[in-house]
Amino acid sequence: MARRRQLFEGKAKILFEGPEPGTLVQYFKDDASAFNAQKKGTITGKGVLNNRISEYLMMRLAEIGVPTHFIRRLNMREQLIREVEIIPLEIVVRNVAAGSLATRLGIQEGTRLPRSIVEYYYKNSALNNPMVCEEHITCFGWAATQDLDDIVALALRVNDFLTGLFLGVGITLVDFKIEFGRLFENDDMRIVLADEISPDNCRLWDTKTGEKMDKDRFRRDLGKVEEGYQEVARRLGILPEAGIRDMKGPEGLQ
Ligand code: TMP
Repeated sequence: MARRRQLFEGKAKILFEGPEPGTLVQYFKDDASAFNAQKKGTITGKGVLNNRISEYLMMRLAEIGVPTHFIRRLNMREQLIREVEIIPLEIVVRNVAAGSLATRLGIQEGTRLPRSIVEYYYKNSALNNPMVCEEHITCFGWAATQDLDDIVALALRVNDFLTGLFLGVGITLVDFKIEFGRLFENDDMRIVLADEISPDNCRLWDTKTGEKMDKDRFRRDLGKVEEGYQEVARRLGILPEAGIRDMKGPEGLQ
């Protein structure tokens, strides 16, 4: 395999220069981290599953008109994406109280929220990704008011669509984190969905039993972490045919 230039290595993914200008290759690792990388581990096959799950969800979202950075999946662990300027915000949408919302405000985990909540976090691990409000975002120029309007509208559409899609396979979409980027084409700029959507950044509970099928299994040492991710892929009908044995992916990636 030709050596490619690595542009960035994150906790769960690596970005390489793409084959054409304006494209990148996004490689999904098995590395897992939580609590701003204070807890680290490996979830075997996670990269393969997240590549597949994120591909599937981004394609379905594109079908309903949500613009995304996704172009196509290249292999078990890699996908071709458009190069975007990442907006330094983590957008969290919540439907059910869990995680930091439950802890911070003392709300019983599992309480259904009367309406969906959108929260913003400033993407800065040195500061532990602090929660911010619209005033901070526009004041410090992370996004303009119009950009933020677009982001919130898209985030709510993503939430509506994914809530229904997951409900159809017996999964409750409790909350999720997404990121957006600016895509420059000719003289135009568009806000598009970027990064990934996978059990790494969603809370997914079995609708009947409440069993967790997401990264909380790793964060909270609940065991059967791989199985949780696999079950999400299985219910979506996209579990790689060869199953877990085929999950190591291509060797010699860098
Ligand atoms: P929280 O309850 O810990 O704030 O997380 C809300 C949602 O955002 C949950 O689905 C997990 C996801 N998330 C990330 O993807 N990355 C992060 O760094 C954090 C803090 C949360």
